[in-house]
Amino acid sequence: MSQKTQSAMVYPSAKIGGVLEVQGDKSISHRVAMLSALASGTSTVKNFLQSEDCVNTLRAMEALGARTFYTEEGELHIQGTGGKFMEPVQPLDLGNSGTGIRLLAGLLAGVPITTELTGDESLRSRPMKRIKDPLVQMGAAIELLGENGCAPIRIKGGGLKGIEYKLPVASAQVKSCVLLATLFAEGKTTVIETMPTRDHTERLLQSMGVPVVVDGLSVELTGMGAKGPALKARAWMVPGDFSSAAYAFVAVAARPGASVTVRNVGLNPRRTALLNVLRRMGCDIQITQTSDPSEKEPYGDVTVIGAELKGTTVGGEEIPKLIDELPLVAVAGALAKGKTVIRDAAELRVKESDRIACMAANLRLMGVEVIELEDGMEIEGPAELNVAAAVRSYGDHRIAMSLAVLALYGSEPVCVNNISCIDTSYPSFWKDLTSLGAHVE
Ligand code: S3P
Repeated sequence: MSQKTQSAMVYPSAKIGGVLEVQGDKSISHRVAMLSALASGTSTVKNFLQSEDCVNTLRAMEALGARTFYTEEGELHIQGTGGKFMEPVQPLDLGNSGTGIRLLAGLLAGVPITTELTGDESLRSRPMKRIKDPLVQMGAAIELLGENGCAPIRIKGGGLKGIEYKLPVASAQVKSCVLLATLFAEGKTTVIETMPTRDHTERLLQSMGVPVVVDGLSVELTGMGAKGPALKARAWMVPGDFSSAAYAFVAVAARPGASVTVRNVGLNPRRTALLNVLRRMGCDIQITQTSDPSEKEPYGDVTVIGAELKGTTVGGEEIPKLIDELPLVAVAGALAKGKTVIRDAAELRVKESDRIACMAANLRLMGVEVIELEDGMEIEGPAELNVAAAVRSYGDHRIAMSLAVLALYGSEPVCVNNISCIDTSYPSFWKDLTSLGAHVE
């Protein structure tokens, strides 16, 4: 069915399972687009995620001077600028993507041009002061043109120096923004994290020969000054997106004996904490790494075998490692016996939607007992799921997909409204879900 459809009727599905291959990782695709546009020469990219978010980033890189095309085999080629970005005539529109706008702001902060970055209504309501503060400390001129410290962001780049920066929030986007700005800065930057967050920027820069040094919670990089880094084009292979695979995992997690295998999915340990949570809840999980041991971004085949789930508690250092899967943890909690508690996840309130409020409201519509907490939620399961509910995504792709997965476990059809947002991250979501046996109209 077409992703442009506004709503989907998801029917109870007694049997779900099988084998899948999901599209490329979103976080890695964004970074590969930016780093290839920065390099000199033509990079090739296998399995680039062709979702709205990543396509917007590619368009932005084209407006800065990169050239891109697809071969007949579906391989993306990106001809880089060698670090000589041209000043775009119009604001760059990053659509729905926090990663797109925050990382690009970092990259452009070091370059002597003036740019304006903007996005859709959701993106223009998300906090940008968190990137303005360190970039201003580095010497960039940054104006937040929206209300309450939001986008559009005007950047007058150049003249940066390295800083020591303790992240006030556990955010890979802020860390990456500062690291990318450092590529064009004089002197050394040290970013100190409060907890380990996803480290794709560090790994991909290292794979291009940039000496990023990671020591516990500190990440160090010495800038190359105004001339920028001399990056060379390379061949990239983007692993499957763990965050997309996660919907299939939870679609079988509460079905004793049912199984799903996702092939060639990213296994970066700072992304896969959902597997530990599902194990704690009772699932059997098998992982076979298929990537070469030398790959900076490992990938492999993951099989989840469902069980009678039991509730668990998720919080602390686990949170950044499954931040985008928390709506799915809530779904698993609704299917599990006993209480599931999510804490330390206040960041969820400033994602594409307020994911705590939006999930709690929708779960209640489906008959789930939820208590909303300032930094998470408590769910008492298992829910009966016998309501023919109409739920809505609030324009948030992960809310829409998580509710669709929960609906597969009910005894009545559920109408998921406002689903076009799924195209931002997982255009083949419905196709993949139906290939596992889901009945969706
Ligand atoms: C991302 C980091 C996370 C995550 C987002 C992608 C990235 O955000 O939620 O979907 O690619 O760096 P924060 O680092 O701001 O928590």
